[in-house]
Amino acid sequence: MPNPTTLAAWKKLAAISVTISAKQAGESALKPIHAAGLYADFSRQLIDAATREALLALVDESGVIKQRAAMFAGAAVNPTENRPALHAALRASTSAPLHVAGVDVRPGIRAQLDRVKTFSEAIRSGKIRGASDQKFTDVVNLGIGGSLLGPEFICSALTKFADGPRVHFVSNVDGAHLDDTLAKLNPATTLFTVTSKTFTTDETLTNARSATAWIVNHLGAEAVSTHFVAVTAAPKLAMANGYPATHIFEFNDWVGGRFSLWSSVGLPIALACGYECFAQLLAGANAMDEHFINAPAAENLPVMLALIGIWNRNFQHMTSHAVLPYAQRLAMLPSHLQQLEMESTGKSVDLDGKRLDYPTCPIIFGQAGTNGQHSFHQLLHQGTDISSADILLVARPESGLKEHHEKLIANAIAQADAFWQGKSSAAIFAELTPKVADEDERRKIAEHRVHPGGRPVTMMVMPTVDAYHLGALVALYEHKVFVQGVIWNINPFDQWGVELGKKIAVALLPSLMSTDITSPAHLQTLLAHLKHAAQLK
Ligand code: F6P
Repeated sequence: MPNPTTLAAWKKLAAISVTISAKQAGESALKPIHAAGLYADFSRQLIDAATREALLALVDESGVIKQRAAMFAGAAVNPTENRPALHAALRASTSAPLHVAGVDVRPGIRAQLDRVKTFSEAIRSGKIRGASDQKFTDVVNLGIGGSLLGPEFICSALTKFADGPRVHFVSNVDGAHLDDTLAKLNPATTLFTVTSKTFTTDETLTNARSATAWIVNHLGAEAVSTHFVAVTAAPKLAMANGYPATHIFEFNDWVGGRFSLWSSVGLPIALACGYECFAQLLAGANAMDEHFINAPAAENLPVMLALIGIWNRNFQHMTSHAVLPYAQRLAMLPSHLQQLEMESTGKSVDLDGKRLDYPTCPIIFGQAGTNGQHSFHQLLHQGTDISSADILLVARPESGLKEHHEKLIANAIAQADAFWQGKSSAAIFAELTPKVADEDERRKIAEHRVHPGGRPVTMMVMPTVDAYHLGALVALYEHKVFVQGVIWNINPFDQWGVELGKKIAVALLPSLMSTDITSPAHLQTLLAHLKHAAQLK
């Protein structure tokens, strides 16, 4: 793929960005898009007709369509790990052969999903029970990153559909996370799903060992096999850790961790809400896949989100992007998207290993609305840096409480308008005129109350928070990330940036675990203080 800065479309966008401003842009040239039940409004984007045409030209000149076909066909679009990225295959409705290394992967995917179905139904019905023959009432998923965030977000969003065992998520190696969770649970009715694609992640394996000790202490060693299952792309490692094959739910290594909730990693979702619910999640994602494959670029929601992100990042020079779901049940969406976006396109080297001379992924952050309005929205409205934002609305009330829904929607739209239109000092000055006699005083007060506006917002609407539309929403962002990866000429499917920290932690451990090992010189003062502080009563 080409260096984007050499492309005619990129140069055109750079030229446009020098002159465009909110006033000149006037009405956005982007029409709303409907896709897989979702609706997106781009009227608050600084994108006029010329900008739109240059962005669409960027899609053509970057080879997005060709790369998209390659990804869906199972090509090694993850070159640094020499793997395909076939998360879409996990939710495909077709059984047409799809070959990876000469093997049709469809039957294996079907078999993995059938095992999730059979097992989740057996646990939910009580056909499979604990070592003391009691029905499982609680599931604790031990996993982190992609082995946590996707399933946890979906389970928290589908709370109104949860009619199975209560599902808890423990991820942090801080023992308080596991302690606080287990303190509330009965070992006899608790099932652990140990989820790790590589089955090497130290936090997860440490938590699994401590959870095993908890079961052994309460139920005896013979109970372990009944109360633990593994979910992994490394079954041999799981077996080496004592998991029998019958208790291992596999998925393929061509599924990236942050793209894996559609695989066996989604087992907690099926346990909590039933397999039919999980199937609806897959169906919604598949509907978005079909849209992404078939819709022309100008009406293609993932493509348009990707282009808007690139316009705001590379040509409007915004360094952050807020995800603001105005629905409490979508509160964990920003956390999932932080990994999905920042671990995918938080890169600074192109596919040829050359350092980039243009920015890539912005800082992704966010919180459920209206909460953010009472914390970081001040900066979003009047800060020195401008952040773009996605505001998500849910059309139908998620609660029967009168007037709450209307207030939620009113706040979401109000924030979008305040971000985009702002309020000028002249307007504020005029409002103050009868109240503040002194003109200089009036001017000073007005300046403090100016909302500059020009903060671009994409408004998205999902009809209701259900599995189908959640699947469509997550798949939308997966494909946005892919398209941005193509245009930025980077690999969105690897994550080498997480390795160094892990290695340093392993090297440091001995000097933390024992007193007689000399710690690295630059850390001696800090470690000495830590040990001293730990002894203080
Ligand atoms: O953060 C690094 C990472 O490898 C993520 O990409 C991954 O989702 C997470 O750690 C957990 O990895 P695993 O599922 O192999 O335990």
